[in-house]
Amino acid sequence: MSSSHTGHAMPNKHRISSGTRSGHALLFARNFFRHPRMLGSIVPSSRFLIKQLLEPVDWAQARVIVEYGPGVGSITTEILRRMRPDASLIAIETNPEFVCFLRSSTEDERLQVVEASAESVVEILRQHGHEKASYIISGIPFSTISAPLRERILRKTCSVLEPHGSFLVYQFSTRVLQDLQRIFRYVRHRFEPLNVLPAHLFFCRPDTVSAASPLNGACRDYGADAATPGSQIRPTGPTPPPIRSGSGRGSGR
Ligand SMILES: C[S@@+](CC[C@H](N)C(=O)[O-])C[C@H]1O[C@@H](n2cnc3c(N)ncnc32)[C@H](O)[C@@H]1O
Repeated sequence: MSSSHTGHAMPNKHRISSGTRSGHALLFARNFFRHPRMLGSIVPSSRFLIKQLLEPVDWAQARVIVEYGPGVGSITTEILRRMRPDASLIAIETNPEFVCFLRSSTEDERLQVVEASAESVVEILRQHGHEKASYIISGIPFSTISAPLRERILRKTCSVLEPHGSFLVYQFSTRVLQDLQRIFRYVRHRFEPLNVLPAHLFFCRPDTVSAASPLNGACRDYGADAATPGSQIRPTGPTPPPIRSGSGRGSGR
């Protein structure tokens, strides 16, 4: 799907607009020097990374979208631009300065910014009247958070995705891969060089999809099928249908 144009028309007042691009970058960089491990990068994501990260999303189907670690809203803005008028976006961010910035810089009623850790995704979804999410999009630096916290976040993420849902992740290393493969049944890896730092993108599904093996939305059992150390990045289980290019409508997923 070309990401620039399947978006639903949206008046300017609904976009994250406060300040200039360089102002956003300064706010981000200042916070990087305070919390380098929590941010993982000194500048927000590039448009190349955002385009590739959001490419698999079927915007016509996505009703509930969750974003982990929105920062100054570079990805958030693009999600809002593309998502349905009746869809909801819940952005979960631990940094109070970013939360404050995001809340004050958009009037879009589809966006709820929650100051919390992604670890609380189950409770946060419930508080907003949802049991499941269509997509969860993550920018949190999994390689610099503790292994137990990473495990809890990934397990809860998998458990709250709809059967056709997907977890879209970008990282600056492939360290999280083994955890993703242990928890999700399908993991696809891509790479985006045009970003500071160059990024690895992972597209994960709780279960695989095929005509012979309909979705049941099951995450992998805890601890089962641990990835072999040093194994190649690979899909697990039957191969799902290809991610479509072109319009986001009428996904076969
Ligand atoms: C690399 S920055 C991503 C910023 C933005 N998504 C972008 O692409 O420019 C990582 C963000 O994740 C946030 N973060 C880190 N750990 C988190 C957690 N456990 N839950 C929610 N947000 C978290 C950080 O505060 C930071 O804003």
